Amino acid sequence: MLTKFLSIVGIMYPFSHIISETCHMTPPDFVQVFRQSSPYFNAHRDSTVVIYLDGTPLQHGDAALPLIQDLALLQSLDVRIVLVAGARPFIDAELHAQGLEWHYHNGLRITRKEHLSGVAQAVGQMRVELESWFSSAKAKQSYAVRPLFISSGNWVMAKPLGIIDGIDFQHTGAVRRIEIEPIKGVLDMGHIALLTSQAYSMTGDIFNLSSMDVAIEAAIALEADKLIWLVDPEHLTAARLAFPTELSANDMPDLLSRSNLPEGTQKLLCDSYRAAQEVDRVHLLDRTRDGALLLELFTLDGVGIMINQNDYDVVRQASIDDIGGILSLLEPLEAGGSLVKRPREQLEMEIDYFTLLERDGTIIGCAALYPYTDSAAAELAAFAIDAQYRRGGRGSKLLAEIEKRARATGIKKLFLLTTQTMHWFIRHGFAQADISALPSQRAQMYNFQRRSAVFTKELA
Ligand SMILES: CC(C)(COP(=O)(O)OP(=O)(O)OC[C@H]1O[C@@H](n2cnc3c(N)ncnc32)[C@H](O)[C@@H]1OP(=O)(O)O)[C@@H](O)C(=O)NCCC(=O)NCCS
Repeated sequence: MLTKFLSIVGIMYPFSHIISETCHMTPPDFVQVFRQSSPYFNAHRDSTVVIYLDGTPLQHGDAALPLIQDLALLQSLDVRIVLVAGARPFIDAELHAQGLEWHYHNGLRITRKEHLSGVAQAVGQMRVELESWFSSAKAKQSYAVRPLFISSGNWVMAKPLGIIDGIDFQHTGAVRRIEIEPIKGVLDMGHIALLTSQAYSMTGDIFNLSSMDVAIEAAIALEADKLIWLVDPEHLTAARLAFPTELSANDMPDLLSRSNLPEGTQKLLCDSYRAAQEVDRVHLLDRTRDGALLLELFTLDGVGIMINQNDYDVVRQASIDDIGGILSLLEPLEAGGSLVKRPREQLEMEIDYFTLLERDGTIIGCAALYPYTDSAAAELAAFAIDAQYRRGGRGSKLLAEIEKRARATGIKKLFLLTTQTMHWFIRHGFAQADISALPSQRAQMYNFQRRSAVFTKELA
């Protein structure tokens, strides 16, 4: 309990620091921020996050410090972090110092045998830099409530990339397999797991891999909750011109084909698309922005671009044949007290008010909209997403569809009564109101025993 308290106090220190600098936060604002961020502490606890960091800041003195501190903070919040560090700037510097030339094809280095010792030296140097950062007191600051360890190992098995477009990539490899058990073991111990571009084949040969490929393959193999790219700001600037800040992987092929992005950004987005086929969320963040990781993970709007996994869900109007599916969705929630009981006969009479979210023929979400035409208002009720499918943006999607439908029928205001889901609705633009805000017909039926909170939202 004490540890938990200390960690939360610790959490808020850097938040207040970051946000007050930019927003001149007053104490009530701070409390508001604390409240709004609190659901995320639980949401991210024990989640596995693969973070790719382009190695450039590690070469420049204190430039890496804010990032390292944010990683330390995340780790102290029980986020399971796999850090994939890109060694390209270290390798370039080392090969240059050795007077060796190198070439790229399709954005990948062609690693010749004579490059291998330089690559090993560069990756080793980067690892030493990281280890020294994570050992330093500066990285831990006041909020690290436990020792901070970063561990690495021979967890990436490689195979030769081979000959592509007639070009032999020699010692440039591809991921053959990620050994997930030892990585999970390290994460279980509370360490940050470090992966680099260096990997080994079954025959003991050394290969230099694309660290972005390592990040994608690790995120897929570990069934990570998130893959986060911490990249050069120019990629974010270019991507923002063509992409919304939040999108589904479904939308990417079309956006990619219509946009005219610089080669590096195009490749990053294609890689993100590949990852988003299997990883729930892929985030693109500007690695130079102070606190970018915290702002992305602990605020509603975030600061980067977020790609949600492919969306196979269909929103549709309910029909009488759906009663069984709706009942099995609602009954556990009714039993737990978060929804009011609706008998089958009532559902049969009210089925036209229901909108459903369906996946592969199974009803995984529903919402009812009861219009009060005299007051151009409608009540949102029986709003639920199957517990197995939560935290995938489905609640938000269903609500957006309900709002669209309401607007189309001239509804100007939504209201709802809830006992347990206040914060979720606040995050979606609802504000708490008095019972007097209800249409009079509905106010008369208010259940004073249940004491639900009333929330309303004006529809623009
Ligand atoms: C509320 C509900 C519909 C949300 O569905 P969902 O598909 O998980 O919603 P989304 O994926 O769009 O949003 C999930 C986010 O909301 C957060 N969230 C979930 N419940 C929350 C709550 N009660 N308060 C604040 N935030 C909450 C999650 O942590 C998640 O955050 P993240 O995006 O940072 O990971 C679902 O939790 C549910 O069915 N709850 C039980 C039924 C219920 O209470 N209905 C309301 C009756 S009026």
